[in-house]
Amino acid sequence: AQHIRLAVVAGDGIGTEVVEQGLLALESALHGSGTTVATTDFDLGARRWHATGETLTDTDLDAIRAHDAILLGAIGDPTVPSGVLERGLLLKLRFALDHYVNLRPSKLFPGVASPLANPGDVDFVVVREGTEGPYVGNGGAIRVGTPHEVANEVSVNTAFGVERVVRDAFARAAARPRKKLTLVHKHNVLVHAGHLWRRTVEAVNAEFPDVTVDYLHVDAATIFLVTNPSRFDVIVTDNLFGDILTDLAAAITGGIGLAASANINPDRTAPSMFEPVHGSAPDIAGQGKADPTATVLSVALLLEHLGHTDAARRVEAAVAADIAERRGAERVRSTAEVGKDLAARIAG
Ligand code: IPM
Ligand code: MN
Repeated sequence: AQHIRLAVVAGDGIGTEVVEQGLLALESALHGSGTTVATTDFDLGARRWHATGETLTDTDLDAIRAHDAILLGAIGDPTVPSGVLERGLLLKLRFALDHYVNLRPSKLFPGVASPLANPGDVDFVVVREGTEGPYVGNGGAIRVGTPHEVANEVSVNTAFGVERVVRDAFARAAARPRKKLTLVHKHNVLVHAGHLWRRTVEAVNAEFPDVTVDYLHVDAATIFLVTNPSRFDVIVTDNLFGDILTDLAAAITGGIGLAASANINPDRTAPSMFEPVHGSAPDIAGQGKADPTATVLSVALLLEHLGHTDAARRVEAAVAADIAERRGAERVRSTAEVGKDLAARIAG
């Protein structure tokens, strides 16, 4: 028996709708296992910002820290200036809780229509660095609004930050059948950061001699993701390249309705956070149209992270079985219907 204290940040738009179904899946997966879940809802996002001007206070952060994991729906709303919630809430959580491994699996489930004619057997994970790069906000602008404006966004790459994420990626590669790691960067142009990443991968490879390493410039990686995605096993890359590549990766494996992610603090000094890759989709919010599958798959990552491996497998299997029956279905199901069907399958 065990107890999970779960912080829930449903957030904006379709976030509340998909999180509800994610929680249903979680409950179903743990039913009868002796493990209980206690959720705490955090009122964060556009509503809170409009009401109070706050995005994420120290009090919120301390309260969140007292949990074992976080389930997040989506953050962002057209009524809030771009960047306010992204930086002040979502990225603040990732940075403050040291989520340096942003794990984004890409698997083409049987039955899913890929936009690629011959996708092959696609099953890779992107280990996206989560606490550095241009996301740090190290930059600035001068002479703003004049013809002489200069706007800088500096990519921060530390030996400490690169090494820890590279080591995590190697460990993940070593645990997979193909044992292959691809570093994606752009060291022919971004020579300072690029060479730090390259040297780090070379050095850490010595600890994982059975992992095969290769390297792709990020532009070439986008070609292979479309022409030969089955060549990838584990990709390790920086925060911004990882952001871009994982949207492409989602697109080739059935779209962001299916793409799950984990923001992991591997040292477990703070709770890890699980969220669908998609955003708040304000255009379809409140209509029961959102696909909760990405959130349910994120719940599988959550269960896995907390050591409930069997429960995680059952959630994944339920999703795979549900997806296999989607093609040619007579009717598109609502968010709640998909959630209910998945929960029923998980229960067995
Ligand atoms: C993601 C999102 C975020 C990111 C945005 C909303 C800040 O695109 O989770 O991929 O860039 O990391
Ligand atoms: Mn993104």
